[in-house]
Amino acid sequence: MTASVPTAQPEHVLIFDTTLRDGEQCPGATLNTPEKLEVARQLARLGVDIIEAGFPFASPGDFEAVRLIAEQVQGPIICGLARALPGDIKRCAEAVAPASRRRIHTFLSTSDIHLQYQLRKTRAEVLAIAAEMVGYSRSLVEDVEFSPMDAGRTEPEFLYRVIEAAIQAGARTINIPDTVGYTTPQEFGQLIAGIRANVPGIEGVVLSVHCHNDLGLAVANSLEAVKNGVRQIECTINGIGERAGNASLEEIVMALFVRRNYFNPYFGRPVACQDPLTQIKTQEIYRTSRLVSNLTGMLVQPNKAIVGANAFAHESGIHQDGLLKNKNTYEIMDAQSIGLTDNTLVLGKHSGRNAFRSRLEELGYQLSDDDLNRAFLRFKDLADKKKTVSDWDLEAIVNDELRVAPQAFTLERVQVSCGDHGLPTATVQLLGPDGIELVDAAVGTGPVDAVYKAINRIVQVPNELIEFSVQSVTAGIDAIGEVTIRLRHNQQTYSGHSANTDIIVASARAYISALNKLYQTLKEGSQPMLLSRQEAKEV
Ligand code: KIV
Ligand code: ZN
Repeated sequence: MTASVPTAQPEHVLIFDTTLRDGEQCPGATLNTPEKLEVARQLARLGVDIIEAGFPFASPGDFEAVRLIAEQVQGPIICGLARALPGDIKRCAEAVAPASRRRIHTFLSTSDIHLQYQLRKTRAEVLAIAAEMVGYSRSLVEDVEFSPMDAGRTEPEFLYRVIEAAIQAGARTINIPDTVGYTTPQEFGQLIAGIRANVPGIEGVVLSVHCHNDLGLAVANSLEAVKNGVRQIECTINGIGERAGNASLEEIVMALFVRRNYFNPYFGRPVACQDPLTQIKTQEIYRTSRLVSNLTGMLVQPNKAIVGANAFAHESGIHQDGLLKNKNTYEIMDAQSIGLTDNTLVLGKHSGRNAFRSRLEELGYQLSDDDLNRAFLRFKDLADKKKTVSDWDLEAIVNDELRVAPQAFTLERVQVSCGDHGLPTATVQLLGPDGIELVDAAVGTGPVDAVYKAINRIVQVPNELIEFSVQSVTAGIDAIGEVTIRLRHNQQTYSGHSANTDIIVASARAYISALNKLYQTLKEGSQPMLLSRQEAKEV
């Protein structure tokens, strides 16, 4: 039976994932509720200890997403964020209530610059509010986390007093945020050491850190904090988050895994101990990264550590030669340890549904019969076009076919004519919200532009296309192309993603998927935001 509140000195580093809260706050990464649920389920499969599912007071949509995740996702502690205000905290408690293990994470700024310009409060007032709001949170849930925001720039003596007050009021986790990504590893390590040496009662709580990446130091700072006794790290998939983002989960987890001999002594273990230092199932890392990238539209740079397309690619002849002789010459970790396989599916176009289902199950996908049928049709179609179907192709099909976003418009047909003579022209046929077939045509500067113009003539929701990218899933002329797009309407960004061997079809579907999200928001648009998007982003 799992205790509902982690012990103060867990034997491993607790991974607190804030992709759905801090990650979702980054410009353009907005997810709808079914997408958030899908990410939360995958985070549970990945084995994170805590999911920060959102900021329930921010809007009815955020509240509902946190409540649904608390209701439906088993395993990790489900946490909601709340400002140190009674209304925020009450709403947060309501949202996480359905979870068997639930947490309120409340925060309050403590740096002088925030006190003076943002809160307009004295230190004495902040001290009193912190204690009072942690106490109030504890009256609603057992597991309360407190963050002194901008701790990295807070005068240490005052920081110690605030933390002590929060512990006395009942906080079970104290999280130290480097909110603006200002500190360097040595300074941050010293800050943690200072807290451990000077705050009475600190040994009775879990000490946590939350580092931003403005100077590219978020992961280094988090790891330095671990060496100084921190046992919870807040991080996000692919490092997405405010501005330059948060510490990246995959980098932290793999650093603690690959270099466990280096970190072991800080946990009182023998250097050679092989036990992992986190409970993450590293083989789920790649899939989680792809899911978050596809759903948020935040592409992963090719040279990104661990999950970038080039992370395991070796171009130089000298490296390739070394690798052939011994893998360890140029590879410090195995691609399979993060779930990357180069297995080629042995099923062909004559393979049956059962073989297809069992391969998907081996890859971690449990599909309902309906979903399996749809994915199977796509597989057959692909197997007709491609000689070999890789696991990556399969994942692309499943992710594309089973996208859960509500579909007001669906693509029935798209046809283009283009070349270096004549005008690129597209004809598009969509199925509209009331099941009526809608057809239109347009010319554009290129085939994709023509397709988008034709779709716009049908859907008629003004928007600005701000990003369009095509990537191939595997090598070869017959590769599946993945299109990711982002569009803007009323300062909100909506992303769309699709995969197909025909990149014009993928482009059309990605655009329609983003338009569907926009259309849905406009339809539900009467709901006022309790907290403006800007306010939410300031957190
Ligand atoms: O960056 C920050 O300070 C935060 C807090 C709410 C933990 O996101
Ligand atoms: Zn943050």
